[in-house]
Amino acid sequence: MALLIRTARALDPSEGLDEILNILVEGGRITALGRDIEAPAGGDCDVIDAAGLIAAPGLIDMHTHLREPGQEYKETIASGARAAAAGGFTAVACMANTYPANDNASTTRYILERAREACVRVLPVAALTVGLKGTALTEMGDLKEAGAVALSDDGCSIADAQVMRLALEYARSFEMPVLCHCEDSSLSFGGVMHEGAVSAVLGLRPIAPAAEELIVQRDIALAEWVGHCVHIQHVSTAGSVRIIREAKARGVRVTAETAPHYFTLTDEAVRGFDTNTKMNPPLRSASDVAAIRQGLADGTIDVIASDHAPHSSLEKDVEFDHAAFGIVGLETMLPLTLALVSEGVLTLAQAVEKFTCNPAAVLGYGRARLKAGSVADITIIDPDMLWTLERGRLYSLSCNTPFFGRTFTGRAVYTIVGGTVVHALRA
Ligand code: DOR
Ligand code: ZN
Repeated sequence: MALLIRTARALDPSEGLDEILNILVEGGRITALGRDIEAPAGGDCDVIDAAGLIAAPGLIDMHTHLREPGQEYKETIASGARAAAAGGFTAVACMANTYPANDNASTTRYILERAREACVRVLPVAALTVGLKGTALTEMGDLKEAGAVALSDDGCSIADAQVMRLALEYARSFEMPVLCHCEDSSLSFGGVMHEGAVSAVLGLRPIAPAAEELIVQRDIALAEWVGHCVHIQHVSTAGSVRIIREAKARGVRVTAETAPHYFTLTDEAVRGFDTNTKMNPPLRSASDVAAIRQGLADGTIDVIASDHAPHSSLEKDVEFDHAAFGIVGLETMLPLTLALVSEGVLTLAQAVEKFTCNPAAVLGYGRARLKAGSVADITIIDPDMLWTLERGRLYSLSCNTPFFGRTFTGRAVYTIVGGTVVHALRA
């Protein structure tokens, strides 16, 4: 059936589009955009009245942990996809630290097979090294042929610089993007939170910002030397922002992402020992948060990604020291990012760019467009909706978030994948 989206503020930074328009979707594609576009005569057509709403290209989360295969009690591909749809995402890139790891073509194919039943698109990221152990490289050609869109050992950093160098060289020859979890674990080992006054007061073992920055610096140096691009995952420190900014100014092909918690919360949030404030990298100081915001505003940080990391009460309802790292994020990323717009840190177009065309460019994924002929992956956002995140209301199978009880402004009201409405907040 056709779908007409009426009087939406159509916003696509990659097309320089910001206009009140009607959008017609037929056969899973956008067939027309314009002020006077109407439903086709005679045929069935659903209508969405989008007055006051924003229509953006479908949001892409380039950093999601779906726990299938292996830890389906935390999240499945289907449940993670439902959470993604509820958060406004039409596509998610899922990390390789599953059980077994996505380090071989049959696991990549398995994920894609399971994803056929999911309500959003799933883009598998395969491992750089076998078992994410940082020693033997994976069969990157096979992984690409099976459908992996990028390579990352996320969750772990490759400790050996020579292995990382070879990984970049092989990835370059297969033209696959490399996404880097940057952590010198000889420095961070045993740490559970950011190193600073709060960790000293709480007596929790610290993680110095240098643990991240050393590897950001190393991976940029290696990328520069071997002539391949690198994408730095979940940037959390002012030093990392500075290193990336300088590298970009030199012309190095480096891109970067951060996650909403790194521009929203500081290590002060850990004072209550809530294990939902424990993630890796950890929440940092106020000056780090300020630098992340500045890096987003000046384009040093290209992408906002959720780092959705579901864990169950088995891993989280334990002492802080023993809790797993990570929080769910798919259902809170959009409003946390819109808060940056209302605070004047980002323009709306900049915010939209950071989860549409920019991640698409990093992944070489060509869907995010609001134009005639494009696949109809569209997110419709109510930028003014006030809502409170309540316990028991997440679509994710896990509920490890520090944001319960928080009131947000802005929410995805319709998520449309290939012309089909997969999430609707309004009837
Ligand atoms: O907090 C995190 N959780 N950081 C990571 O790098 C991995 C992730 C997970 O898989 O739980
Ligand atoms: Zn990571």
